[in-house]
Amino acid sequence: MSRHRNVRNLDLDDVLDDGYDDEDYTEEQAMTAEEQAQMADATEDVKAMLGSAKVTIKEIQDALWYYYFDIDQAAVYLLDELAKKQKAATAAATKKASSTPKPSQSGTATPTGTSSKSAPAPKAKETPKGTASATQDDDIVEFLDDEDLPPSQLQFDLAAMNFGSTLKTQAAKKTGGATPSAKATPLLSSGDGFDRSSAATPVGSAPPSGISTPSRVSTKMGKRIDVVTEYQKRVAEKESLNLVVIGHVDAGKSTLMGHLLYLQGEVNEKTIRKHERDAQKIGKASFAFAWVLDETGEERARGITMDVGVTKFETEHRRFTLLDAPGHRDFIPNMISGTAQADVAILVVDATTGEFESGFDANGQTKEHALLARSLGVQQLVVAINKLDVVGWSEARFLEIVAKLEQFLVKDASFKKSSLIFVPCSGFTGENLVRKSKTGQICNGSAVSDAPVDSSVASVVETFAWYKGPTLIQTIDKLDAPTRAVEKPFRMSVTDVFKGTGGVSAAGRLEAGHVQIGEAIMVMPGAEMAVVKNMEVNDEPTRWAAAGDSVLLTLSGIDILQV
Ligand code: GTP
Ligand code: MG
Repeated sequence: MSRHRNVRNLDLDDVLDDGYDDEDYTEEQAMTAEEQAQMADATEDVKAMLGSAKVTIKEIQDALWYYYFDIDQAAVYLLDELAKKQKAATAAATKKASSTPKPSQSGTATPTGTSSKSAPAPKAKETPKGTASATQDDDIVEFLDDEDLPPSQLQFDLAAMNFGSTLKTQAAKKTGGATPSAKATPLLSSGDGFDRSSAATPVGSAPPSGISTPSRVSTKMGKRIDVVTEYQKRVAEKESLNLVVIGHVDAGKSTLMGHLLYLQGEVNEKTIRKHERDAQKIGKASFAFAWVLDETGEERARGITMDVGVTKFETEHRRFTLLDAPGHRDFIPNMISGTAQADVAILVVDATTGEFESGFDANGQTKEHALLARSLGVQQLVVAINKLDVVGWSEARFLEIVAKLEQFLVKDASFKKSSLIFVPCSGFTGENLVRKSKTGQICNGSAVSDAPVDSSVASVVETFAWYKGPTLIQTIDKLDAPTRAVEKPFRMSVTDVFKGTGGVSAAGRLEAGHVQIGEAIMVMPGAEMAVVKNMEVNDEPTRWAAAGDSVLLTLSGIDILQV
């Protein structure tokens, strides 16, 4: 190894010709006392974020100095560098194992911003990323083969950084690290081992359930949470399910769910009364319940859902995230993004004579939505046969619709017959949503007491006595929650990305693993690292999320174009 030089003894001034003159460095550029204190704090924070990753204090401080004490960016940079080292080390080790003579240059290694100077260099000069230009140099390439940081050690370090259980297992299986397996770092590279097969549509996905494993409490990051334990506690209380409501335009999806939310106490009477008054003013009185979910002015004025309305509610044994999809064909992309996040679905069909038929015909959305839901992974389907008040609670009409739909759903859409449940109801009157009237009294909320439907249907409710089955709420309360891969590596499918206040916001569903604030994640396909600064689940700020949750992550240290 005679021609090898240790990079730590490398004077970058020999390598980089960037016009920097040693003499330019004066005492004025040394850190002030305030900066020193800031540096000490920030170093601790970055150390906590990196956990057991093998990074020296000097490297941390160089990165912090370069990024003006931005701990997120410094951590992301250092993790990026480690990932590059890992990749290069794996390649070098493979070459060694196959006894191929080492190439004289590779350019894959990018050492961190290690400088030979003891004091921090001026910001314009000491650019950790700038060292990339040195990667063509033999000396730096050979750093990877240095005894101090053999590939096996790098391998171990990355495994120790909690890159998900798969990686950990693979690292543990490794014998002596002589030939690091390429599979052991699947998620760090866009290459070999990354198991994309299991990802449905990983528009953006991230591997580690937590790259950082801070062992101490950091003021910025807060205490690290044992997410798996927390998740188990949450599930022990109630299972969580994502429920999408789909169906032909005007089938009554929003009204049905708005009324259900009202009856469940999720929406108070005052709000419903206000919706009723406001809706009446614009001649849309019958949309009062739909306005619970149709929140934008345009949706309300047009009387249609345009974007997926998201809210949550609980039943006795389940916790639901409700996604109210639009039925209008113009908004099919929104319906798809909502359904992609769902575990189970309610297909709402309008029982009115002629309306069911137009929704079920070739151009209707009833069939299209059912097929989309099935192909997007929904296995359990509740079919709400709605607006039964309009057809006099007719059992014959109910059975006619069930027969037609069942045949289509089983034969063409490939739903299992046992996974289909048909429930007759009226979203407008509230009949059979939460309870079924026994006395002939309509179950709808008194909030819509002025609605003409009250008196007109009161007499026909008795004719609904033929139905002996469960109510809609009892039905969804029995839906099975799918098994979540919480202990697998973190994987999230991204449905929306936008520039938020604190960074880049990415919305989507956690397909596997878990994540918490302060953790670094990898965004594919560019394999860029980002730090989770904040997160929300169901519009509520939270510190962690696990597989199955629909989340909104605020990321720092990454450009929006990379997500
Ligand atoms: P999109 O989201 O635009 O596809 O419509 P939707 O399926 O959400 O229908 P929405 O809830 O907006 O209701 C459409 C119309 O049907 C409104 O006027 C409702 O009052 C009416 N409606 C909904 N459910 C019932 C019902 O059970 N009975 C009667 N009579 N009318 C209903
Ligand atoms: Mg709607």
